[in-house]
Amino acid sequence: MADPVRLCFVCLGNICRSPTAEGVMRHLVAEAGLTERIEVDSAGTAGWHEGDHADRRTRAEAQRRGIDLSALRGRQFRADDFAHFDLVLAMDHDNLVDLASMAPDDDARASIELLRAFDPTADSDADLAVPDPYYGGADGFAAVFDMVDRACRGLLDHVRTELLDPPA
Ligand code: 4NP
Repeated sequence: MADPVRLCFVCLGNICRSPTAEGVMRHLVAEAGLTERIEVDSAGTAGWHEGDHADRRTRAEAQRRGIDLSALRGRQFRADDFAHFDLVLAMDHDNLVDLASMAPDDDARASIELLRAFDPTADSDADLAVPDPYYGGADGFAAVFDMVDRACRGLLDHVRTELLDPPA
C-alpha cells in the first residue's frame, strides 16, 4: 500500500481554527473510507497552548455539529514537520508567512497553502483567511466551523483526484 497523503492544518494557537479543521477532516476522511490513506494532524505557529485541549467554545461548536475534539491537544509546528507532511494548510496570511519563514527549502515552501484556497465556493477576490475567533463571540466560532467545513470538502476532492495514487 502506498504511503498515506499527510495533511497538517496550522493556525496560531492550535486551540481554535486548526483543531476544528483536523476534526472536520478526520470526520470526512472516515466517512469516505480513506482513514488508511489520508493522515490528518494540526499544529500552531506559537507554542502557548502546547498540551492544552481545544478551546471550550471551539469544542462546543464542533460538538453541536457532531464532531468530538476532546482527544486533541495543542502543539507547536516545527521546521522538521515539513519533512513529514505533503500539504501544510494555513488558516490565514500571518500563518502562511510564519510557516514560509520556517520552511527549510523550496519543497517545504511549496507544500504550504491557504486552506480556503480549496473552497470552490470562496469568492476569488476574498482574502481567503479563516479569521481568528479567539477574542470574539460565539458567532465567530460558528462562522469558522462553516468556512472550515466547506474548505475541507474541497480539500478532500483535491486529495482524491490529485494526490491519491491510484485515485480513490
Ligand atoms: P487559533 O486561535 O490560532 O485559531 O487557535 C487563537 C488561540 C489562542 C490565541 C490566539 C489565537 N492566544 O492569543 O492565546
